[in-house]
Amino acid sequence: MAFEIGSEEHKRLLCRFFVESHDPYKPAELAWPELDDAARARLAALPIWDEAVATEADTALKVVTLGKLEPDPVMAEAIALQGYEEERHAEMLRLLTQRYGIAVRERAAPVAPRNPEWSFMRVGYGECFDSFFAFGLFALARDSGFFPPALVRLFEPIMQEEARHILFHVNWIAFKRARKPALMRPAYLFQRGLAIYLQIFGRVKTALRVGAKAQGDSQDNFAMTSAQSFGDVTMRGFLETCLAENDKRLAPYDARLLRPRLAPTIARAILAVAPKGEPAAATA
Ligand SMILES: [Fe+2]
Ligand SMILES: [Fe+2]
Repeated sequence: MAFEIGSEEHKRLLCRFFVESHDPYKPAELAWPELDDAARARLAALPIWDEAVATEADTALKVVTLGKLEPDPVMAEAIALQGYEEERHAEMLRLLTQRYGIAVRERAAPVAPRNPEWSFMRVGYGECFDSFFAFGLFALARDSGFFPPALVRLFEPIMQEEARHILFHVNWIAFKRARKPALMRPAYLFQRGLAIYLQIFGRVKTALRVGAKAQGDSQDNFAMTSAQSFGDVTMRGFLETCLAENDKRLAPYDARLLRPRLAPTIARAILAVAPKGEPAAATA
């Protein structure tokens, strides 16, 4: 690596990669396709919309809030841009659910975080995990024809933006940690560990349970049951797809930046013990 983690060069590369790879599309100006009844019904039946709309709006507010408070103008620009992208994700979902008549449960508006840096840390770890599986799910939906190609084209930029967000996040964490005085680093490490625990532990538990069972009831496993909405998918096939898509999505960016490691490491560990060539979890 040609620069030190936590250096000005690290910050410059991190923020530059993010700002330069921003895609300036406007959701309302996109060519939203007409869907036939069958395609619309398939889309509406996915069990994700309530959660997705609420999560994007909540994430957007957390990231925007931190962007406004960040004292370093270079870092602030990148974080504010990420907040804008999250607001755009929420807008994309609003347009999609309205246009295709997908009912979404009304929820209270998100509340601004009291500790924006802590919230951003937690949001980022959650995204690192969720995006890894979302990359695989999106590829399955695309390649199985579950999503019409016109819809795939519309949502492709969101997937790529999440790849940029998690790349930004792992480098932001490492940068912040390196900038802490030596005495404060253990506390920061603890805080980071707690953020990972709070965001990911429940998801890891589910993933490991599916890995151990390899077959049977996985109704509570969102990623795997969603994967099986897109056809006959084994857990092995799904995780291999996630790993391949993760590599592809992160490949375009500066190789000197740190890469997210947690979700890929867990996926490889499950693959090491997962049975080969049989369905991972039969849907009931
Ligand atoms: Fe998002
Ligand atoms: Fe994101």
